[in-house]
Amino acid sequence: MRVLMVCLGNICRSPMADGWLRHKVKLLDLSIEVDSAGTANYHVGKEPDHRMRRISLEYGVSIDELRARQFSVADFDNYDVIFAMDKSNEQDILRLARNENDKQKVKLFLNELYPDQDLEVPDPYYGTDANFKEVIELLDQATNAFLINNQLIQN
Ligand code: 4NP
Repeated sequence: MRVLMVCLGNICRSPMADGWLRHKVKLLDLSIEVDSAGTANYHVGKEPDHRMRRISLEYGVSIDELRARQFSVADFDNYDVIFAMDKSNEQDILRLARNENDKQKVKLFLNELYPDQDLEVPDPYYGTDANFKEVIELLDQATNAFLINNQLIQN
């Protein structure tokens, strides 16, 4: 399975979702390919936000090697599932979809953890360290839910 995590800037939420899933895929030796992208191009080529990099290390996950890139139409061909962190990201991705098959790949990530609730991962960019921690813990739980839902780990 190939999974793409998408947010706005690809420097806070989606690299962390990507980092958690990569971390677990490696620990469990799963065959899942993971990447992340942003709908916007503001931060292309940059490393993740310094607060996310610092705090993620407290959770034992390094995202230092990731670099921001922009989502592109080719990602519909290269990934099986495209997880949007919020509804605005979801709409921006859906606007680029070429057909129904592309559209069906796009899902709100938190629906893995809270099915059918259409909840959003809050953007911590203008927040505090506490907001970054909340997002990291939410993404830890959501990546676990994704693995459980796909029967890749036991609940
Ligand atoms: P992300 O957070 O979408 O989680 O990477 C943001 C990062 C940067 C900006 C907005 C959100 N920005 O406006 O530069």
